[in-house]
Amino acid sequence: MKKTVLVSGGAGFIGSHVTVELLQAGYEVIVADNFSNCDTTCFEGVKKITGRVDLPLVKMDFCDAAAAERLFAENRIDAVIHFAAFKAVGESVAKPLMYYKNNLQSFLNVLEAAEKAGGCNVLFSSSATVYGEPDTVPVTEKTPRKPATSPYGNTKQMCEDILRDAVKASEGRLKGILLRYFNPIGAHPSALIGELPRGVPNNLVPFITQTAIGKRECLSIFGNDYPTPDGTCLRDYIDIVDLAKAHVCAVSRMIDGKMKEDCEVFNIGTGRPVSVLELVNAFEKVNGLKLNYKFAPRRAGDVTAIWADPTLANEEMGWKAERSVEQTLAAAWAWERHLHELGL
Ligand code: UD1
Repeated sequence: MKKTVLVSGGAGFIGSHVTVELLQAGYEVIVADNFSNCDTTCFEGVKKITGRVDLPLVKMDFCDAAAAERLFAENRIDAVIHFAAFKAVGESVAKPLMYYKNNLQSFLNVLEAAEKAGGCNVLFSSSATVYGEPDTVPVTEKTPRKPATSPYGNTKQMCEDILRDAVKASEGRLKGILLRYFNPIGAHPSALIGELPRGVPNNLVPFITQTAIGKRECLSIFGNDYPTPDGTCLRDYIDIVDLAKAHVCAVSRMIDGKMKEDCEVFNIGTGRPVSVLELVNAFEKVNGLKLNYKFAPRRAGDVTAIWADPTLANEEMGWKAERSVEQTLAAAWAWERHLHELGL
């Protein structure tokens, strides 16, 4: 019988790509989302890509403890991947209580519901933000976490700790994997799913594609006086499909009983630092266009340079990032054009 994975926040950017990869790897998936930060575009795209017109969708908010409990009681769930969370750094500084309430409450409810149902494999979607400004790069999973610089980052750290403690106390009923993503970018090669930010994008790649299509006038590159080769920040941009595949590896590792510890952590990145300017140049080159950009002052809270040492994920999970930055940026551009055709 097929194993079932619950994907909370499964209609969003990362969740929709993960759902596709899980279905294509032979898992059954229940998508649950409250659509607070997305519409049904990506969910419909997932159905088209996979041919699964009957894909189950539960419209619910994981902050509703009773609803979470019902979901676990009524379905045999072999693993849950928890994405349902707010994710805008700046907004979290302005509205900390909203962030703590939503991101912590929803995860606590998932864990309680999973416990009440007799236990579960839990994959938490964490972030390289937990490393803050690292003293050395690349960062391994042993690189110490730094105090969070935003409530958003703090919720990631707190949820990591909550999962660790819950697993420890569960006497084997709960198992956990924390995936720390670096900078997920791009879109599915079909151009049917991708990132769909509401309002002005905070992240670099949606801002680039929106500028290229004419939705934004000019990209501001935040800071060209950093101590890096070209003065702009260095990041580890990871293709969204590669990232999604890491989830399939992690889920099968949990379900197939291959974990070495009850709570494990993996960096999900390429191991390849790319500067903002290099990314912009690569976008222009691969898509044959010129981008309107200017240098602007540094953005508060940005770290100079961070990229992953992904050796542990490569060796332990048998996962490796495969797609080039060029392939990823071509997919991001194809997705933006698809959105344009849809009038979005
Ligand atoms: C942020 C979050 C991270 C989250 C990630 C993906 C922090 C500190 N950062 O990472 O947790 O996982 O988003 O959602 O918590 N840039 C510009 N112009 C722009 C936008 C960005 O120059 O208009 C630059 C930034 O200064 C940065 C790079 O592009 O150097 C990447 O920025 P962004 O895409 O926002 O990601 P991060 O800040 O690295």
